[in-house]
Amino acid sequence: MSTESATAKGRPTVRRFQEMKRKGERIVMLTAYDALFARVLQEEGIDLILVGDSLGQVVLGYESTLPVTLDQMIHHAGAVRRGAPGSFVVVDLPFLSYQVSVDETIRNAGRVLKETGVQAVKLEGGDPRTCGMVEALVTAGIAVMGHLGLRPQSIHALGGYRVQGRGEREADELIAQARALEAAGVFALVLELVPAELAEEVTRALRIPTIGIGAGVGCDGQVLVLYDALGLNGDFQPRFLKRFADLERATREGVRAYAREVRDGTYPGPEHTFRRDA
Ligand code: KIV
Repeated sequence: MSTESATAKGRPTVRRFQEMKRKGERIVMLTAYDALFARVLQEEGIDLILVGDSLGQVVLGYESTLPVTLDQMIHHAGAVRRGAPGSFVVVDLPFLSYQVSVDETIRNAGRVLKETGVQAVKLEGGDPRTCGMVEALVTAGIAVMGHLGLRPQSIHALGGYRVQGRGEREADELIAQARALEAAGVFALVLELVPAELAEEVTRALRIPTIGIGAGVGCDGQVLVLYDALGLNGDFQPRFLKRFADLERATREGVRAYAREVRDGTYPGPEHTFRRDA
């Protein structure tokens, strides 16, 4: 058996996530954008790795996810795939890569799978047109994750990064869209920035798992942007975020120590130095 097929054998499938929901096992998802972090996530047993279009802000320095291109997603998804060959990897379809036509949507999602070797794509929204795109992708054999609540690609239309579904009408609409996405064939659904009660109601209403971010503890799983979870982005302090490490401080300390030792000549020391005779 080749290495690749041995790796593929142990990798979770969409059925595993549905089984986890049935058994009440919580699903752990984190984002990654490069091979080294992806390797750590795989080795630490993270259930799902998302190459999120949050790439736009945390890696590429844009103000929002809107400028991110399909080629950029493919570039980073390939790195994550190579770093975590045994993980289930989902890739965000970026803004305008799935809105224009069914043909373009299938071609774009197909490129992601063919050029990177990941398992699934994610897209935002649950209106009838988006559900039609999901159906077309699923018919083409592509696994799709949905995303409702705060949809960062629609940030200007939504009027900012605000909790969604607080009012009764908005909540009913979100539940209806979640059901429609499930009927269209998504294998899991991200719920971003919604009240905990609403996320619980959606979670109870669906057979597919829900993965929350800013949606309370009642979802079937949780996702965070890796750099936020690791505290690499000190300026970003939304209520839902817990920092599980302080990478910003560790990075600053490391960078300062390096600069100090270069400046005072203590690095590189003899143990880091090659000699002609040894
Ligand atoms: O782009 C992203 O990282 C996401 C998660 C926040 C769910 O969509």
